[in-house]
Amino acid sequence: VLLLIMCQVSGNMFMDVIVISYLQLHFRYKIPSVTSQTARRVFKTATKTCSEQDKAMVAKYLSHSTATADNHYRMLQPDMVCQAKKLIATLAGDSAHFNRRQPSEQRIIAYIDKQGWESNVPNGVKLFNEWKPSGKEDHVMDSQQIQKLVKSQKWKGLHITDIEGKGKGVLATRTFQPGEVICDYHGSIVTAKKGKEIHQETSEEETGYVFFYTNKKGKPMAIDAHSSSCDCHPGKQTFGRMINHLRTFNLRPRLFTLQKDEEEKDVILLIATKAIKVNEELSFDYGVDCRSFGGEGSGISWL
Ligand SMILES: C[S@@+](CC[C@H](N)C(=O)[O-])C[C@H]1O[C@@H](n2cnc3c(N)ncnc32)[C@H](O)[C@@H]1O
Ligand SMILES: [Zn+2]
Repeated sequence: VLLLIMCQVSGNMFMDVIVISYLQLHFRYKIPSVTSQTARRVFKTATKTCSEQDKAMVAKYLSHSTATADNHYRMLQPDMVCQAKKLIATLAGDSAHFNRRQPSEQRIIAYIDKQGWESNVPNGVKLFNEWKPSGKEDHVMDSQQIQKLVKSQKWKGLHITDIEGKGKGVLATRTFQPGEVICDYHGSIVTAKKGKEIHQETSEEETGYVFFYTNKKGKPMAIDAHSSSCDCHPGKQTFGRMINHLRTFNLRPRLFTLQKDEEEKDVILLIATKAIKVNEELSFDYGVDCRSFGGEGSGISWL
């Protein structure tokens, strides 16, 4: 969206030659080519409101010619390169105002209104309908919006309903693009050992509510979601625990770190692996089969 908006603003802007994915967007939206000098100027202008340190970093990152680049990169610390690349991506519109989740139509329209543009004003409804997520999926890991959604559990576009032969399940009420975060698998964090005990103690119909994973330090852990509402959101039905298993899944789990009152908490995000249509059932591969749990799974028809 931002890319399109920015193109409207400048007439013929873009591309940061460094980031190949932008080049792809460049071709997809048929944006005329510009010189790298223009692209550099655009990025420098975009740092207007940044700190002096960030301005200097972007200037340094963009200034060198191919001939001096080798020498330059040898001198740079990898973390500085990453930081500068992230900053450039933000300036290109990756996460400054919109990120991978589709914004509402009102938000796009309000954003356009706020800019005070007088000509070439983009059509908010059109942008909403043609919206594609920008940036790389990895940027989700830095997203404040995802932090907020995990905390609030106000995931949009999902509906819990009866699914024949599976009990309940979750349907999409809007389309999702590949790479979008759908929700998290929500519950309390316990060790994998405790998770197995909970799994064994629970009745057969309730066995599927413990999610096993390995944490950042390589320790086997589990998310216990057997209780229908959690301590942090009493009375609220969360979505992750209601999603059924399917080998031909449309979501995949990914470990994420929630920042909570100076503490870190593991969260499993469920991310779309393909384009998801309205009314499509959401599913992920539980990673278990009939040999799991000491062969206990052999009586389970849906595995
Ligand atoms: C995490 S829960 C999913 C929500 C569950 N269907 C419900 O109504 O609460 C896991 C349980 O759902 C059921 N389930 C999951 N995937 C299924 C499938 N593909 N077919 C039938 N039942 C399934 C099993 O009973 C499993 O123990
Ligand atoms: Zn909670």
